[in-house]
Amino acid sequence: MADVLSPLSLRDLETENRIAVSPMCQYSCEPDGLATEWHRVHLGSRAVGGAGIVMTEATAVSPEGRITPHDLGIWSDEHAAALEPIAEFVRDQGGVPAIQLAHAGHKASKERPWEGHVPIQPDGTGPSGASGWEVLSPSPDAYPPFAGDRPAMRKADVDDIRGVVDAYRAAAERSLEAGFEIAEVHAAHGYLLHEFLSPVTNRREDDYGGSFEDRTRLVREVVHAVREVWPDDQPVFVRISGTDWLDDRESWDIEQSVRLADHLADLGVDLIDVSSGGLHPEQAVPGGPNFQVPLAERVREAADVAVGAVGGVTEPEQADALVRNGRADLVLVGREFLRDPYFGLRASGDLERDPDAVARQWPVQYRRAAQR
Ligand SMILES: Cc1cc2nc3c(=O)[nH]c(=O)nc-3n(C[C@H](O)[C@H](O)[C@H](O)COP(=O)(O)O)c2cc1C
Repeated sequence: MADVLSPLSLRDLETENRIAVSPMCQYSCEPDGLATEWHRVHLGSRAVGGAGIVMTEATAVSPEGRITPHDLGIWSDEHAAALEPIAEFVRDQGGVPAIQLAHAGHKASKERPWEGHVPIQPDGTGPSGASGWEVLSPSPDAYPPFAGDRPAMRKADVDDIRGVVDAYRAAAERSLEAGFEIAEVHAAHGYLLHEFLSPVTNRREDDYGGSFEDRTRLVREVVHAVREVWPDDQPVFVRISGTDWLDDRESWDIEQSVRLADHLADLGVDLIDVSSGGLHPEQAVPGGPNFQVPLAERVREAADVAVGAVGGVTEPEQADALVRNGRADLVLVGREFLRDPYFGLRASGDLERDPDAVARQWPVQYRRAAQR
């Protein structure tokens, strides 16, 4: 029986364990989007801390796709070069380097969370002096602002949509050159791809809006483009919001997520990373331990694809139970990895019966601390 310390095999990739660092924005670049020492230490220490997969934060496929001017990006070779030593360090520690590829859509051009997170207009600058830009949306009139004024928005036309697909494809190629072994397409949390999925934010009447097939077209095109350039022996993940948490209206829900997961599996996606919400300020998110796990579980039982669970996982035993009970194939841990960068080592210490195996999982430099 699989447990959270057992390897996960996807195509030719095998992870050390089934614990992943969930993607978490650091907003710590200069406006050039290049990885910094912060990213190297932040991601590197979680690799030292025993995570089987270390995923970057949402990494913008184009400058307009950044949430804030300080987001990480991968829209040029220089960006790939800045990420390369980080991916290499993660791999040297026994972790699998993964990258989340993102476009923020209508949630782009904002100040950082600790600077108010309100839109920066194209003719304005945020507190750091960085400029804003016009943001893309499937249907600007449907935009539900979470905070502050409306940003300056443009309705994505067919050329914009082609540009987004091409940007994802080029970003995947560069991610590969940088040494990442998993590409995750970010289609959750109200960002561009999720905006197209949900009837709340997509009111289009062209080939990219309306029916389920049309609302899912952009995500499918992006995934197809990424899969085309990503090697056959390496996995592709997609993060979705399993539901908008807007049951009082026509919205994106778990049954559409299951249907989408089936389509994505057919396109060569290896794992669906099931998060939720982020689209609308009136969302009713339950919160608490394992709050999104029932969504992951539903996708896992109904679609023929591996599933990652995320949200409210703080204890090794809890993560282990999710895998042992067949509720998820992979457990992504976010905030607990910020509290404890060594969560992976803690899990092996708490769950592994063989002390020699525990010691082997510690970096050699730290091994004297593993032997209590
Ligand atoms: C500081 C911070 C930044 C985040 N940035 C991202 C991101 O870049 N991409 C993403 O898909 N989710 C992002 N999330 C969501 C997390 O990946 C995770 O899904 C969420 O925090 C729930 O998991 P947790 O309860 O283990 O923290 C972020 C969360 C936090 C706390």
